[in-house]
Amino acid sequence: MTEDDQKQAAAKAAVAYIEDGMVLGLGTGSCAAKMVDLLGERVQAGLNVIGIPTSEATAKQATNLGIKIAGFDQVKIIDLTIDGTDEVDPQRRLIKGGGGAHLREKIVASLSDRMIVIAEAKKRVQQLGAFKLPVEVVRFSAPALMPKISALGCTPSLRQDSKDDLFHTDEGNYIIDCDFGAISEPESLALTLSTMPGVVEHGLFIDYADTIIIGTNDGVEIIG
Ligand code: 5RP
Repeated sequence: MTEDDQKQAAAKAAVAYIEDGMVLGLGTGSCAAKMVDLLGERVQAGLNVIGIPTSEATAKQATNLGIKIAGFDQVKIIDLTIDGTDEVDPQRRLIKGGGGAHLREKIVASLSDRMIVIAEAKKRVQQLGAFKLPVEVVRFSAPALMPKISALGCTPSLRQDSKDDLFHTDEGNYIIDCDFGAISEPESLALTLSTMPGVVEHGLFIDYADTIIIGTNDGVEIIG
């Protein structure tokens, strides 16, 4: 199975958890996009759901597929969120934000009864940190935060977009990608980052994922 096949298998298994009438958090990224495509097929066949997209890109995709979307002025509780990840460890801790959407993703996940994380096999790691941890920061604070974040034991870099301009999130902030190599204490790092003025949100998701669905060469593996 290619990585694309693995993502597709994980997305298909996750969509099977969706029931009529649900309010759904719709993740961002290539794996989540496959899930949204499959959801679109079910909606076109008559399924009635409301989606809360975690990015402008996902909102556009969902709308084009005929999936009803809403904001928190219309819904308060989300039944189920399905999203991708950049890394997942054996404790179901995640690094997210490779697509720059982890702020909205974390808000949506935090308001969800259940979060299912879907990914291809390579995203499963023994220890988080080989993937650079995305930290969304207020633009004003970025130059001051670079040395402070570096002092936590990483090499930080300001994310650029495909045109070599600075990348802006959907909320207009910058992202500092932090190369830790390995993160030995994700909980304490998460707390430290959360309490730094200027940091809007980091990509460590601890105690968010209820179920992990990994696409493998043999099908899917479901954890939790
Ligand atoms: C976006 C994310 C994505 O879920 C994560 O980057 C995984 O994306 P992909 O499925 O394309 O590898 O956190 O902010």
